[in-house]
Amino acid sequence: VLNKRIAVLAGDGIGPEVCQEAVRVLKAVSEKFGHEFTFDRQPMGACAIEATGDPLPDQTLEACYLADAILLGAIGDPKYDNNPAAKVRPEQGLLKLRKSLGLYANIRPVTAYEVLLPYSPLKDARIAGADMLFFRELTGGIYFGEKGRIADSAYDHCTYSRFEIARIAHLAFKAAQNRRGKLTLVDKANVLETSRLWREVVQEISPSYPDVAVDYLFVDNAAMQLILNPKQFDVILTENMFGDILSDEASVIAGSLGLLPSASVGETAALFEPIHGSYPQAKGKNIANPIAMILSAAMMLEHFGLQQEADLVRRSVQVALDKKIVTQDLTPPTLAYSTEQVGAFIAYCVLGGAVEGL
Ligand code: IPM
Ligand code: MN
Repeated sequence: VLNKRIAVLAGDGIGPEVCQEAVRVLKAVSEKFGHEFTFDRQPMGACAIEATGDPLPDQTLEACYLADAILLGAIGDPKYDNNPAAKVRPEQGLLKLRKSLGLYANIRPVTAYEVLLPYSPLKDARIAGADMLFFRELTGGIYFGEKGRIADSAYDHCTYSRFEIARIAHLAFKAAQNRRGKLTLVDKANVLETSRLWREVVQEISPSYPDVAVDYLFVDNAAMQLILNPKQFDVILTENMFGDILSDEASVIAGSLGLLPSASVGETAALFEPIHGSYPQAKGKNIANPIAMILSAAMMLEHFGLQQEADLVRRSVQVALDKKIVTQDLTPPTLAYSTEQVGAFIAYCVLGGAVEGL
């Protein structure tokens, strides 16, 4: 029986709605297994700017340091997206949080769910069986380099050190050892110096993992291969911005961006968030898919060493998908369930309802 303190940063748009469902499922887990989870809710993103002028108030950051893990909904608001001159932006809060907590590895699993094959615009035969794991570097590269304006130009510097590349590469190699033993480094080494350093470092590390086969792809080709033949991928290792772009693309294989969870880890802290954004058009409508958030909570349980609990949450999600208890991104609106209904059904399964073999 575990006692864990979880900081909940629900954020903006649909963030609060999907977070509420993840918390509901976690409460079901704690009820069933006797764990004590305490939830510490804190503002972050546009809502924090409204309230305090700061997208990541000190108190929120403090709560994250004190927590055993962080659950994050989504941040962002069109008010800032459409205003390039805005000095304070919700995204700054997220980037500062990642950097302050040293969350250098963002892990994003992408699987083609059998029952959802028809929902992907890609042909079934191409995507059936696809199962890959992204390791996206999260605290370096062009996101964090010096940026600025000089007269009529603007610049964003991209920098990587050997240390930054090696530490995430080791995690990716270890993950590949526990999967199908294949690692693909995605870069643009034909053009970028940082990419050439990534290749160099990965080539140096690779002999320590003789059971992992490494291959190298340029990012433009990787973007095409993901759609053409996604089954070739096992672990994909890449830098910050390429990982951001390719993982959104890969979500098309899963059938909806609303299904994909992620874990961001460092030496000490760990944060769990869906890969989707704040989907402002759906805010307050109770239509957003909570599954990415719930699966992020499952990754958190796994991080706590609660494998059985994590598996149960995943099986419960599978039951919801099998029974088509899903939101309108996965079914025609007349057949769709609400965010709350999907969350409540998954929590019900966790408590022992409707899951075969329990
Ligand atoms: C993500 C998001 C963020 C990113 C934004 C909101 C800054 O797109 O987590 O993928 O680009 O990292
Ligand atoms: Mn993104």
